[in-house]
Amino acid sequence: MATTNKQILLAARPTGFPQPTDFRLAEGPVPEPAAGEFLVGISYLSVDPYMRGRMNAARSYADPQKLDEVMGGGAVGKVLASRHPGFAEGEFVVGMFGWQQYAISDGGGVVKVDPRLAPISTSLGVLGMPGLTAYFGLLDVCAPRPGETVVVSGAAGAVGSTAGQIARIRGCRVVGIAGDDHKIRWIREDLGFDAAFNYKAEARFFEKLKELCPAGIDCYFDNVGGAITDAVFPLMNPGGRVAICGQIALYNLDKPDTGARLLPLVLVRTLKVQGFLVFQYADRYGEAFPQLARWLQEGRLKYRETVAEGIENAVPAFLGMLRGENIGKQLVRISSR
Ligand SMILES: NC(=O)c1ccc[n+]([C@@H]2O[C@H](COP(=O)([O-])OP(=O)(O)OC[C@H]3O[C@@H](n4cnc5c(N)ncnc54)[C@H](OP(=O)(O)O)[C@@H]3O)[C@@H](O)[C@H]2O)c1
Repeated sequence: MATTNKQILLAARPTGFPQPTDFRLAEGPVPEPAAGEFLVGISYLSVDPYMRGRMNAARSYADPQKLDEVMGGGAVGKVLASRHPGFAEGEFVVGMFGWQQYAISDGGGVVKVDPRLAPISTSLGVLGMPGLTAYFGLLDVCAPRPGETVVVSGAAGAVGSTAGQIARIRGCRVVGIAGDDHKIRWIREDLGFDAAFNYKAEARFFEKLKELCPAGIDCYFDNVGGAITDAVFPLMNPGGRVAICGQIALYNLDKPDTGARLLPLVLVRTLKVQGFLVFQYADRYGEAFPQLARWLQEGRLKYRETVAEGIENAVPAFLGMLRGENIGKQLVRISSR
Protein backbone atom coordinates (compact mmCIF):
# COMPACT_ATOMS: atom_id res chain seq x y z
CA MET A 1 0.00 0.00 0.00
CA ALA A 2 1.20 3.53 -0.79
CA THR A 3 2.43 5.63 2.12
CA THR A 4 1.38 9.01 0.69
CA ASN A 5 -2.13 10.42 0.81
CA LYS A 6 -2.78 13.07 -1.85
CA GLN A 7 -5.55 15.51 -0.99
CA ILE A 8 -7.22 18.51 -2.64
CA LEU A 9 -7.71 21.50 -0.34
CA LEU A 10 -9.72 24.67 -0.87
CA ALA A 11 -7.04 27.36 -1.09
CA ALA A 12 -9.25 30.43 -1.71
CA ARG A 13 -12.93 31.28 -1.89
CA PRO A 14 -13.89 31.64 -5.57
CA THR A 15 -15.33 34.85 -6.94
CA GLY A 16 -17.66 34.01 -9.80
CA PHE A 17 -16.63 30.91 -11.72
CA PRO A 18 -14.03 28.95 -9.68
CA GLN A 19 -10.44 28.88 -10.92
CA PRO A 20 -7.86 26.06 -10.61
CA THR A 21 -5.88 28.38 -8.32
CA ASP A 22 -8.72 28.26 -5.77
CA PHE A 23 -7.54 24.71 -4.98
CA ARG A 24 -4.26 23.16 -3.85
CA LEU A 25 -2.87 19.63 -3.95
CA ALA A 26 -1.35 18.54 -0.63
CA GLU A 27 0.44 15.37 0.39
CA GLY A 28 0.58 13.74 3.78
CA PRO A 29 1.13 10.29 5.23
CA VAL A 30 -1.59 7.66 4.91
CA PRO A 31 -3.32 7.87 8.31
CA GLU A 32 -3.66 4.91 10.66
CA PRO A 33 -6.98 4.07 12.29
CA ALA A 34 -7.29 4.49 16.05
CA ALA A 35 -9.59 2.29 18.14
CA GLY A 36 -13.15 2.63 16.80
CA GLU A 37 -11.96 3.80 13.36
CA PHE A 38 -11.20 2.32 9.96
CA LEU A 39 -9.10 3.30 6.95
CA VAL A 40 -10.80 3.66 3.55
CA GLY A 41 -8.91 3.46 0.27
CA ILE A 42 -10.99 5.65 -2.03
CA SER A 43 -12.09 4.14 -5.36
CA TYR A 44 -14.24 7.00 -6.72
CA LEU A 45 -15.00 10.45 -5.48
CA SER A 46 -17.92 12.60 -6.47
CA VAL A 47 -17.86 16.19 -7.67
CA ASP A 48 -21.22 17.90 -7.20
CA PRO A 49 -22.80 21.29 -7.87
CA TYR A 50 -23.60 21.84 -4.15
CA MET A 51 -19.87 22.08 -3.46
CA ARG A 52 -19.77 25.44 -5.25
CA GLY A 53 -22.19 26.95 -2.70
CA ARG A 54 -20.15 25.65 0.22
CA MET A 55 -17.05 27.43 -1.13
CA ASN A 56 -18.70 30.77 -0.28
CA ALA A 57 -18.06 32.29 3.14
CA ALA A 58 -21.75 32.66 3.98
CA ARG A 59 -23.57 29.73 5.51
CA SER A 60 -26.62 28.55 3.59
CA TYR A 61 -28.12 25.22 4.66
CA ALA A 62 -24.72 23.79 5.64
CA ASP A 63 -21.47 25.12 7.04
CA PRO A 64 -19.04 26.57 4.49
CA GLN A 65 -16.08 24.49 3.35
CA LYS A 66 -13.11 25.53 5.50
CA LEU A 67 -10.09 27.02 3.77
CA ASP A 68 -6.91 24.88 3.69
CA GLU A 69 -8.89 21.79 4.57
CA VAL A 70 -9.66 18.75 2.44
CA MET A 71 -12.56 19.44 0.10
CA GLY A 72 -15.61 17.73 1.55
CA GLY A 73 -17.57 15.38 -0.63
CA GLY A 74 -18.98 11.92 -1.11
CA ALA A 75 -16.69 9.03 -2.03
CA VAL A 76 -16.83 5.26 -2.21
CA GLY A 77 -13.99 2.93 -1.39
CA LYS A 78 -12.77 -0.20 0.35
CA VAL A 79 -11.99 -0.71 4.03
CA LEU A 80 -8.24 -1.39 4.03
CA ALA A 81 -7.76 -1.68 7.80
CA SER A 82 -10.27 -1.64 10.62
CA ARG A 83 -10.34 -1.18 14.37
CA HIS A 84 -14.12 -0.68 14.24
CA PRO A 85 -16.39 -3.59 15.21
CA GLY A 86 -19.00 -2.71 12.56
CA PHE A 87 -16.72 -2.45 9.52
CA ALA A 88 -14.48 -5.25 8.27
CA GLU A 89 -11.45 -5.12 6.01
CA GLY A 90 -12.50 -5.71 2.41
CA GLU A 91 -15.99 -4.19 2.72
CA PHE A 92 -17.02 -1.37 0.37
CA VAL A 93 -18.39 1.79 1.95
CA VAL A 94 -19.75 5.16 0.83
CA GLY A 95 -19.53 8.30 2.94
CA MET A 96 -18.34 11.88 3.09
CA PHE A 97 -14.67 10.95 2.80
CA GLY A 98 -13.59 14.05 0.86
CA TRP A 99 -11.27 14.68 -2.08
CA GLN A 100 -8.38 12.45 -1.06
CA GLN A 101 -6.93 9.01 -1.72
CA TYR A 102 -7.34 7.64 1.82
CA ALA A 103 -9.69 8.58 4.64
CA ILE A 104 -10.17 7.68 8.28
CA SER A 105 -13.73 7.19 9.47
CA ASP A 106 -15.52 6.38 12.70
CA GLY A 107 -18.47 5.09 10.69
CA GLY A 108 -20.61 8.25 11.10
CA GLY A 109 -22.85 8.66 8.05
CA VAL A 110 -21.17 5.70 6.32
CA VAL A 111 -23.23 3.15 4.40
CA LYS A 112 -22.03 -0.25 3.21
CA VAL A 113 -22.14 -0.87 -0.54
CA ASP A 114 -22.98 -4.25 -2.07
CA PRO A 115 -20.73 -4.65 -5.15
CA ARG A 116 -22.91 -7.55 -6.38
CA LEU A 117 -25.92 -5.26 -6.78
CA ALA A 118 -24.32 -2.81 -9.22
CA PRO A 119 -20.88 -1.26 -9.82
CA ILE A 120 -19.79 0.54 -6.65
CA SER A 121 -19.62 3.86 -8.53
CA THR A 122 -23.43 3.88 -8.67
CA SER A 123 -23.48 4.51 -4.92
CA LEU A 124 -22.47 8.09 -5.83
CA GLY A 125 -24.99 8.38 -8.66
CA VAL A 126 -28.17 6.57 -9.58
CA LEU A 127 -28.14 4.47 -6.37
CA GLY A 128 -26.77 7.30 -4.25
CA MET A 129 -27.54 10.89 -3.32
CA PRO A 130 -28.44 12.06 -6.87
CA GLY A 131 -30.77 9.09 -7.43
CA LEU A 132 -32.50 9.69 -4.11
CA THR A 133 -32.83 13.37 -4.96
CA ALA A 134 -34.53 12.53 -8.23
CA TYR A 135 -36.82 10.00 -6.54
CA PHE A 136 -38.12 12.27 -3.78
CA GLY A 137 -38.16 15.48 -5.81
CA LEU A 138 -40.16 13.86 -8.54
CA LEU A 139 -42.46 11.54 -6.62
CA ASP A 140 -42.94 13.48 -3.40
CA VAL A 141 -42.74 17.13 -4.49
CA CYS A 142 -44.01 16.96 -8.08
CA ALA A 143 -46.23 13.90 -7.50
CA PRO A 144 -47.02 13.50 -11.22
CA ARG A 145 -50.06 11.62 -12.45
CA PRO A 146 -50.02 9.36 -15.54
CA GLY A 147 -50.45 11.33 -18.74
CA GLU A 148 -49.23 14.62 -17.27
CA THR A 149 -46.45 16.62 -18.91
CA VAL A 150 -43.25 16.84 -16.86
CA VAL A 151 -40.40 19.16 -17.82
CA VAL A 152 -36.92 18.48 -16.44
CA SER A 153 -34.08 20.99 -16.72
CA GLY A 154 -30.48 19.80 -16.34
CA ALA A 155 -32.00 16.70 -17.90
CA ALA A 156 -28.82 14.85 -18.88
CA GLY A 157 -27.09 15.19 -15.52
CA ALA A 158 -27.04 12.77 -12.60
CA VAL A 159 -30.27 13.98 -10.99
CA GLY A 160 -32.14 15.13 -14.09
CA SER A 161 -31.60 11.97 -16.14
CA THR A 162 -32.97 9.89 -13.26
CA ALA A 163 -35.89 12.22 -12.53
CA GLY A 164 -36.97 12.15 -16.17
CA GLN A 165 -36.86 8.35 -16.32
CA ILE A 166 -38.89 8.02 -13.12
CA ALA A 167 -41.48 10.34 -14.65
CA ARG A 168 -41.58 8.05 -17.72
CA ILE A 169 -41.99 5.02 -15.45
CA ARG A 170 -44.94 6.86 -13.87
CA GLY A 171 -46.55 7.17 -17.31
CA CYS A 172 -45.88 10.87 -17.89
CA ARG A 173 -44.91 12.71 -21.04
CA VAL A 174 -41.39 13.93 -20.33
CA VAL A 175 -39.62 16.88 -21.92
CA GLY A 176 -35.95 17.49 -21.16
CA ILE A 177 -33.72 20.55 -21.44
CA ALA A 178 -29.93 20.16 -21.62
CA GLY A 179 -26.96 22.01 -23.09
CA ASP A 180 -25.52 19.72 -25.73
CA ASP A 181 -26.74 17.79 -28.81
CA HIS A 182 -25.12 14.52 -27.61
CA LYS A 183 -27.00 14.90 -24.32
CA ILE A 184 -30.25 15.49 -26.18
CA ARG A 185 -29.72 12.37 -28.30
CA TRP A 186 -28.95 10.30 -25.18
CA ILE A 187 -32.05 11.33 -23.24
CA ARG A 188 -34.30 10.98 -26.30
CA GLU A 189 -32.95 7.77 -27.83
CA ASP A 190 -31.64 5.81 -24.83
CA LEU A 191 -33.65 7.14 -21.90
CA GLY A 192 -36.97 7.50 -23.71
CA PHE A 193 -37.70 11.19 -23.06
CA ASP A 194 -40.60 12.16 -25.32
CA ALA A 195 -39.02 15.44 -26.44
CA ALA A 196 -35.99 17.56 -25.59
CA PHE A 197 -34.04 20.58 -26.74
CA ASN A 198 -30.55 22.01 -26.44
CA TYR A 199 -30.86 25.37 -24.69
CA LYS A 200 -27.44 26.44 -25.96
CA ALA A 201 -28.62 26.08 -29.56
CA GLU A 202 -32.06 27.61 -29.03
CA ALA A 203 -32.52 31.33 -28.43
CA ARG A 204 -36.27 31.25 -27.72
CA PHE A 205 -36.86 28.92 -24.79
CA PHE A 206 -40.51 29.85 -24.29
CA GLU A 207 -41.51 29.28 -27.93
CA LYS A 208 -39.61 25.98 -28.04
CA LEU A 209 -41.23 24.75 -24.84
CA LYS A 210 -44.64 25.79 -26.09
CA GLU A 211 -44.09 23.74 -29.23
CA LEU A 212 -42.89 20.69 -27.24
CA CYS A 213 -45.59 20.94 -24.55
CA PRO A 214 -48.84 21.50 -26.49
CA ALA A 215 -50.94 20.56 -23.43
CA GLY A 216 -49.00 22.88 -21.13
CA ILE A 217 -46.75 21.76 -18.25
CA ASP A 218 -48.07 20.02 -15.15
CA CYS A 219 -44.79 19.39 -13.32
CA TYR A 220 -41.42 21.09 -13.52
CA PHE A 221 -38.35 19.47 -11.98
CA ASP A 222 -35.98 22.44 -11.84
CA ASN A 223 -32.24 21.76 -11.64
CA VAL A 224 -31.02 25.03 -13.09
CA GLY A 225 -33.15 28.16 -12.47
CA GLY A 226 -32.40 31.36 -14.40
CA ALA A 227 -33.73 32.07 -17.86
CA ILE A 228 -34.84 28.47 -18.49
CA THR A 229 -37.08 28.53 -15.44
CA ASP A 230 -38.41 31.97 -16.40
CA ALA A 231 -39.59 30.41 -19.68
CA VAL A 232 -41.21 27.37 -18.03
CA PHE A 233 -43.50 29.13 -15.55
CA PRO A 234 -45.80 30.90 -18.05
CA LEU A 235 -46.57 27.45 -19.52
CA MET A 236 -47.50 25.84 -16.20
CA ASN A 237 -51.06 24.51 -16.05
CA PRO A 238 -53.37 25.44 -13.15
CA GLY A 239 -52.56 23.27 -10.14
CA GLY A 240 -49.05 22.53 -11.47
CA ARG A 241 -46.21 21.49 -9.20
CA VAL A 242 -42.63 22.77 -9.32
CA ALA A 243 -39.78 21.04 -7.47
CA ILE A 244 -36.92 23.46 -6.93
CA CYS A 245 -34.05 20.97 -6.80
CA GLY A 246 -31.13 23.14 -7.92
CA GLN A 247 -30.32 26.56 -9.35
CA ILE A 248 -26.96 25.88 -10.98
CA ALA A 249 -27.38 28.74 -13.47
CA LEU A 250 -27.01 31.10 -10.50
CA TYR A 251 -24.25 29.41 -8.47
CA ASN A 252 -21.35 31.22 -10.14
CA LEU A 253 -22.86 34.69 -10.41
CA ASP A 254 -20.81 37.26 -8.55
CA LYS A 255 -23.79 39.59 -8.20
CA PRO A 256 -27.48 38.75 -7.79
CA ASP A 257 -29.49 38.34 -10.97
CA THR A 258 -32.99 39.78 -11.34
CA GLY A 259 -35.22 37.67 -13.53
CA ALA A 260 -38.89 37.51 -14.36
CA ARG A 261 -41.30 38.24 -11.51
CA LEU A 262 -43.02 34.82 -11.34
CA LEU A 263 -45.16 35.03 -8.23
CA PRO A 264 -48.27 36.41 -10.01
CA LEU A 265 -48.23 33.23 -12.10
CA VAL A 266 -47.85 31.12 -8.97
CA LEU A 267 -50.92 32.91 -7.65
CA VAL A 268 -53.27 32.79 -10.62
CA ARG A 269 -52.30 29.29 -11.75
CA THR A 270 -52.46 28.04 -8.12
CA LEU A 271 -49.02 26.45 -8.46
CA LYS A 272 -47.19 24.58 -5.73
CA VAL A 273 -43.53 25.63 -5.83
CA GLN A 274 -41.43 23.80 -3.30
CA GLY A 275 -37.72 23.67 -2.62
CA PHE A 276 -36.40 20.48 -1.10
CA LEU A 277 -33.12 19.06 0.20
CA VAL A 278 -32.59 15.36 -0.22
CA PHE A 279 -31.44 14.77 3.35
CA GLN A 280 -34.88 15.90 4.58
CA TYR A 281 -35.95 12.47 3.36
CA ALA A 282 -33.23 10.50 5.18
CA ASP A 283 -35.79 8.46 7.10
CA ARG A 284 -37.31 7.32 3.79
CA TYR A 285 -34.09 6.30 1.97
CA GLY A 286 -34.97 2.71 2.89
CA GLU A 287 -38.09 3.00 0.71
CA ALA A 288 -36.39 4.65 -2.26
CA PHE A 289 -33.16 2.66 -2.51
CA PRO A 290 -34.70 -0.79 -3.16
CA GLN A 291 -37.07 0.74 -5.71
CA LEU A 292 -34.23 2.47 -7.59
CA ALA A 293 -32.18 -0.76 -7.47
CA ARG A 294 -35.13 -2.77 -8.79
CA TRP A 295 -35.72 -0.37 -11.70
CA LEU A 296 -32.00 -0.52 -12.46
CA GLN A 297 -31.96 -4.33 -12.47
CA GLU A 298 -35.10 -4.43 -14.62
CA GLY A 299 -33.41 -2.12 -17.15
CA ARG A 300 -36.11 0.52 -16.66
CA LEU A 301 -33.62 2.97 -15.20
CA LYS A 302 -30.41 3.64 -17.10
CA TYR A 303 -27.43 5.71 -16.10
CA ARG A 304 -24.26 7.07 -17.52
CA GLU A 305 -21.02 8.20 -15.87
CA THR A 306 -18.30 10.59 -16.96
CA VAL A 307 -15.13 9.48 -15.21
CA ALA A 308 -11.96 11.56 -14.77
CA GLU A 309 -8.79 9.70 -13.82
CA GLY A 310 -6.77 10.42 -10.71
CA ILE A 311 -6.95 12.84 -7.79
CA GLU A 312 -4.99 15.41 -9.84
CA ASN A 313 -8.02 15.61 -12.14
CA ALA A 314 -10.61 16.26 -9.41
CA VAL A 315 -10.50 20.04 -9.90
CA PRO A 316 -10.71 19.88 -13.73
CA ALA A 317 -13.60 17.41 -13.35
CA PHE A 318 -15.41 19.74 -10.94
CA LEU A 319 -14.92 22.79 -13.19
CA GLY A 320 -15.90 20.73 -16.24
CA MET A 321 -19.11 19.62 -14.52
CA LEU A 322 -19.99 23.26 -13.80
CA ARG A 323 -19.43 23.99 -17.52
CA GLY A 324 -21.62 21.05 -18.55
CA GLU A 325 -18.90 18.70 -19.83
CA ASN A 326 -20.41 15.68 -18.04
CA ILE A 327 -23.08 13.36 -19.37
CA GLY A 328 -24.75 11.66 -16.40
CA LYS A 329 -22.83 11.51 -13.15
CA GLN A 330 -19.38 13.13 -12.98
CA LEU A 331 -16.93 11.00 -10.99
CA VAL A 332 -13.21 10.86 -10.39
CA ARG A 333 -11.59 7.43 -10.30
CA ILE A 334 -8.92 7.35 -7.60
CA SER A 335 -8.06 3.68 -7.59
CA SER A 336 -9.41 0.55 -9.28
CA ARG A 337 -9.18 -1.54 -6.10
N1 LIG B 1 -32.03 19.62 -3.58
C1 LIG B 1 -31.14 18.67 -3.37
O1 LIG B 1 -31.13 18.00 -2.33
C2 LIG B 1 -30.11 18.41 -4.44
C3 LIG B 1 -29.32 17.24 -4.41
C4 LIG B 1 -28.43 17.02 -5.47
C5 LIG B 1 -28.33 17.95 -6.52
N2 LIG B 1 -29.09 19.07 -6.48
C6 LIG B 1 -29.05 20.06 -7.57
O2 LIG B 1 -29.50 19.41 -8.73
C7 LIG B 1 -28.85 19.98 -9.87
C8 LIG B 1 -28.21 18.86 -10.69
O3 LIG B 1 -27.19 18.25 -9.89
P1 LIG B 1 -26.36 17.02 -10.46
O4 LIG B 1 -25.53 16.53 -9.36
O5 LIG B 1 -27.28 16.11 -11.16
O6 LIG B 1 -25.41 17.72 -11.53
P2 LIG B 1 -25.35 17.44 -13.09
O7 LIG B 1 -26.67 17.82 -13.68
O8 LIG B 1 -24.86 16.05 -13.31
O9 LIG B 1 -24.22 18.44 -13.56
C9 LIG B 1 -24.45 19.79 -13.60
C10 LIG B 1 -25.05 20.21 -14.97
O10 LIG B 1 -25.62 21.50 -14.84
C11 LIG B 1 -25.74 22.06 -16.13
N3 LIG B 1 -25.47 23.49 -16.08
C12 LIG B 1 -24.34 24.12 -15.70
N4 LIG B 1 -24.49 25.46 -15.80
C13 LIG B 1 -25.74 25.66 -16.26
C14 LIG B 1 -26.48 26.83 -16.60
N5 LIG B 1 -25.96 28.08 -16.46
N6 LIG B 1 -27.75 26.69 -17.05
C15 LIG B 1 -28.30 25.46 -17.20
N7 LIG B 1 -27.63 24.31 -16.91
C16 LIG B 1 -26.38 24.42 -16.44
C17 LIG B 1 -24.73 21.34 -17.03
O11 LIG B 1 -25.43 20.61 -18.03
P3 LIG B 1 -25.87 21.31 -19.43
O12 LIG B 1 -24.90 20.79 -20.46
O13 LIG B 1 -27.24 20.79 -19.62
O14 LIG B 1 -25.77 22.79 -19.25
C18 LIG B 1 -24.04 20.37 -16.08
O15 LIG B 1 -23.73 19.14 -16.70
C19 LIG B 1 -27.88 21.01 -9.34
O16 LIG B 1 -28.49 22.29 -9.40
C20 LIG B 1 -27.68 20.61 -7.89
O17 LIG B 1 -27.32 21.70 -7.08
C21 LIG B 1 -29.97 19.31 -5.46
